[in-house]
Amino acid sequence: MSVRALLAAEKGSPATLVERDEPTGEVLTGLWSSLNYKDALALAGRPGVLRSLPMVPGIDVVGRDAAGRTVIVTGGGLGERQDGGLAERVAVDPSTAVPVPDVFTPQQAAAIGTAGVTAALSVLAFERAGLPDGPVLVTGAGGGVGGFAVALLAAGGREVHAATGRAGTIGDHLRALGATEVVERLPADPGRPLQSARWAGVVDSVGGGALVNAIAQTLPGGVVAACGLAGSADLPGTVLPFILRGVTLAGIFSVDLDPAKRRAAWALLAERIDGAVVDRLTDRVVPLEQAPGMAQDVLAGRIRGRVVVRLGR
Ligand SMILES: NC(=O)c1ccc[n+]([C@@H]2O[C@H](COP(=O)([O-])OP(=O)(O)OC[C@H]3O[C@@H](n4cnc5c(N)ncnc54)[C@H](OP(=O)(O)O)[C@@H]3O)[C@@H](O)[C@H]2O)c1
Repeated sequence: MSVRALLAAEKGSPATLVERDEPTGEVLTGLWSSLNYKDALALAGRPGVLRSLPMVPGIDVVGRDAAGRTVIVTGGGLGERQDGGLAERVAVDPSTAVPVPDVFTPQQAAAIGTAGVTAALSVLAFERAGLPDGPVLVTGAGGGVGGFAVALLAAGGREVHAATGRAGTIGDHLRALGATEVVERLPADPGRPLQSARWAGVVDSVGGGALVNAIAQTLPGGVVAACGLAGSADLPGTVLPFILRGVTLAGIFSVDLDPAKRRAAWALLAERIDGAVVDRLTDRVVPLEQAPGMAQDVLAGRIRGRVVVRLGR
């Protein structure tokens, strides 16, 4: 039987919808996927995500397994080292599959996807380290990781300051997610190595000078979770915040997780996020064939939260 999938075949060319042979192994019937920043790069034919070609992009999938259970797989090499979730049938490593929590529909689980798991891993890193009192800054707050970070931290009782380049248009949305204050993006050029200290913690999707400025503004004993590089992959700073304020820089990696860590992330999401919040963070729901066109909107930062992809016909 042939199945529909989006296939990236050539460097520099966008992925296209193809009919291909059904995959073998442990296969999920695909229900939903989502467009993460990485997926948008892969769909647009940009380098750095897919390790070989041809390959099906898509780092997340929600599907039904052979036993009829509805599960979600995020990362684990999907859409990077092996064919990913933007297909009607998806071969997965069963050790990476987590049952969709009862509080979410399958579509909502896909909307959470890697973005929500990454935000949850950041909050778990804060809890392991123990944050001082004070507000937490979330950068790239209009994106998927940022939106879930705002919601998780606010639901956990933290004062959240949401940094965005779109304060005028999405400020109300961020406040509805629980942000106490909506602030402008931090400058992309690094300022003084130690700045006025404000943040007990930072969830950063942006990287570069904005991350360095956030570190320089972190309170003694605070923790900065480095999640992303939406602005830059550079880290043009000094060690002074680490050695003079005891600030911790925590790296967040959502792809290869042991099963206990995956379950802990989903347990936190199920405890703190309700379906209405996920729906608020779902900007668009598109069929498989429209996903390549949507990649440009993701790369241009035009999405508020998440794009969900319907895999079935
Ligand atoms: N560590 C991991 O395992 C992991 C997992 C998932 C994602 N990531 C990374 O985390 C980042 C965010 O992912 P995402 O899925 O949330 O992406 P996204 O939905 O596209 O959001 C990224 C957000 O970053 C902000 N932004 C974009 N360009 C910027 C720039 N030049 N300067 C400052 N801010 C900028 C925008 O927010 P505003 O418009 O609100 O400013 C945008 O909405 C990406 O780099 C992604 O690769 C890492």
